[in-house]
Amino acid sequence: MNILILPDAAAVAARAAGIVARTLQAKPDAVLGLATGGTMQPVYAELVRRHRSGDLSFARAASFNLDEYVGLSRDHPGSYHRAMETALFAQTDFRPHATHLPRGDAPDPMAEAVAYETRITAAGGIDLQLMGIGINGHIGFNEPGSALTSQSRVVPLAPETRAANRRYFDRDADVPTQAITMGIATILSARACLLLATGAAKAQAVATMAMGEIGPACPASALRLHGDGTVLLDPAAAALLDPAIVATMDAAHG
Ligand code: PGA
Repeated sequence: MNILILPDAAAVAARAAGIVARTLQAKPDAVLGLATGGTMQPVYAELVRRHRSGDLSFARAASFNLDEYVGLSRDHPGSYHRAMETALFAQTDFRPHATHLPRGDAPDPMAEAVAYETRITAAGGIDLQLMGIGINGHIGFNEPGSALTSQSRVVPLAPETRAANRRYFDRDADVPTQAITMGIATILSARACLLLATGAAKAQAVATMAMGEIGPACPASALRLHGDGTVLLDPAAAALLDPAIVATMDAAHG
């Protein structure tokens, strides 16, 4: 796992967008693994900017998002379908049928999760998986306790995750209690993984991911088992890391 500390959150987003752009330059039909959440918003804004300036095309790419809430239709304002449409898909040249999220309102969510895993495999697997990290160390919606061998499935959301996402819903009771998420093994099967964390609220989760035991207590720790994992941090998210394990690089390089 390569950890880079960049000067601020904007630099984290710019570096992440640059890695996505390089992936698409090398392989225009790459399969991107995408994520929702506040950390990703500036990354998508930068990808949209690059697309508008003519530097970047998604016309041959495909995408699979990490997760979606169970019970929400694609048009629900709190759904991840809607969030991705607004932040990225509708503003770029992604083909509508090339972007995938689990269907939150599928009649049989378990069957939908299994089918989602099959769709990822049928697309040839994911070339680059983007992700954030929860304050409890989750990746996707793999909450603490998730098996490192887990595949796409229906999961309950932890109370801290529901509290963190409360801001996207009108009322407490509207916050979903379950999601369909790629599993930890699904995420690790991506050819490259890119985790972003910004802000002091993530500092403890980042330190546990990088320096704690590798195991279900901190799902993000599984990234240390990946041969091509990169972590981009701002100084606040990196504050509790032991400097000895950090390979700092000048933002001008790479
Ligand atoms: P955030 O979510 O970017 O909104 O903090 C990250 C996550 O929960 O994985």
